[in-house]
Amino acid sequence: MDLLSKIKENKAVIGVVGLGYVGLPLLMEFVEQGFKTIGFDIDGRKVIKLNAGQSYIKHISEDRVRKVRDSKIFEATTDFKRISEVDCILICVPTPLTKHREPDISYIVNTGKALLQGLRKNQLVVLESSTYPGTTEDELKPILEESGLKGDVDFWVAFSPEREDPNNPKFNTRTIPKVVGANTQYARDLVQALYEKVIVQTVPVSSSQAAEATKLLENIFRSVNIALVNEMKMILDRMGIDVWEVINAASTKPFGYMPFYPGPGLGGHCIPIDPFYLTWKAREYEMNTKFIELAGEINTGMPFWVVNKVIDALNLHKKSINGSKILLLGAAYKKDIDDPRESPSFKLIEIMEEKGAHVDYNDPYVPELPDMRMYDIKKKSVELTAENISAYDCVLISTDHSVYDLDFIVEHAKLVVDTRNATKEVLKNRNKIVKA
Ligand SMILES: NC(=O)c1ccc[n+]([C@@H]2O[C@H](COP(=O)([O-])OP(=O)(O)OC[C@H]3O[C@@H](n4cnc5c(N)ncnc54)[C@H](O)[C@@H]3O)[C@@H](O)[C@H]2O)c1
Repeated sequence: MDLLSKIKENKAVIGVVGLGYVGLPLLMEFVEQGFKTIGFDIDGRKVIKLNAGQSYIKHISEDRVRKVRDSKIFEATTDFKRISEVDCILICVPTPLTKHREPDISYIVNTGKALLQGLRKNQLVVLESSTYPGTTEDELKPILEESGLKGDVDFWVAFSPEREDPNNPKFNTRTIPKVVGANTQYARDLVQALYEKVIVQTVPVSSSQAAEATKLLENIFRSVNIALVNEMKMILDRMGIDVWEVINAASTKPFGYMPFYPGPGLGGHCIPIDPFYLTWKAREYEMNTKFIELAGEINTGMPFWVVNKVIDALNLHKKSINGSKILLLGAAYKKDIDDPRESPSFKLIEIMEEKGAHVDYNDPYVPELPDMRMYDIKKKSVELTAENISAYDCVLISTDHSVYDLDFIVEHAKLVVDTRNATKEVLKNRNKIVKA
């Protein structure tokens, strides 16, 4: 049976490579639609957990993982020879930046090489990792061709960007339309047929490059708009105008405006990183990405601006930051998730400690700060008791997890610096709150 018919008749076996925030939910969708699915990862601990029916991501329930495991059509493995058993290979590995803010596609390259252990004729390989235009065609395909097989003849490649928004109550993997792009009609038919099985709507584009660029446009749009609103925050703050009030008022315009919210800086695996994939690629074409650079400059400056607000706030209490005890709330990059990647909280801790502050943190979902790409801060989350809170000179809200009892926190804190407007509904002790 040819691959297209296999997909259409739910007989294709799916392989998901990289079982993290993107790969795991995607894999589960295929299992839940009845596709035999194998998950591949180099991290043996994840493989053991999944085969034991355990979740390692906060917003993916143990119950759901257990059902997937009990389905008998799912298995996780570290053995890449088993790639030969699958018909469609979906690659969801990380795409970070190097120390010099250049694309690090080594995970994609290593995955391509690992696939050679089992690559065979009539397979579809779809890259899902966010990356610069040309990665699928010019980087991944040639590695796969080292097998001796010919791309778009013996096997097919495509790109389909991931739009996962962890813990978004309105959208999940299944309900977010998915862009699919490939450079031959047959590969486009394959990738479209595949995702139509599990996603409400697929959006075909004419090439893998167009699909890669689509993802970058989406994230650059966010980065630029967040930078704009962060700049507005700094200007309006100087004028004594509350940016949150202004955003809420502007949001009532039913057309031509879309709210973005300021914060302590950009976080997460995508928005602070992906734009620089385009910046790097644009250099090859002798082009500068001015909007991206400017947005990056403003957004990376935000933690410094926030720390200056902490310094000013302490000053009003006749305290210097040097020697002050500061409790930072939230290590995850956004509310209600357990993912600390690129979280501005790390930068905030670093700057304040450089200035002589003693900084502790609390995050109910990040009990211990992990080793990060740029940071190795050894700290454990402290408990949010009245006694603990009152022992600090300042509480800095970096991430506004919903579980935080803000009335309680403000009541017991000496001073609260709030970067998220988290305390908007706190009525008592407002004189202790400084927005930043
Ligand atoms: N997390 C998000 O919300 C999100 C949203 C949209 C796009 N993305 C993009 O999706 C991609 C994956 O991101 P993520 O958040 O799922 O990352 P992640 O770190 O959560 O997961 C990646 C997984 O890949 C595994 N891995 C690394 N190298 C491997 C290899 N050679 N072979 C097999 N497995 C390997 C890791 O062990 C890990 O389990 C990135 O390109 C990211 O930019 C992420």
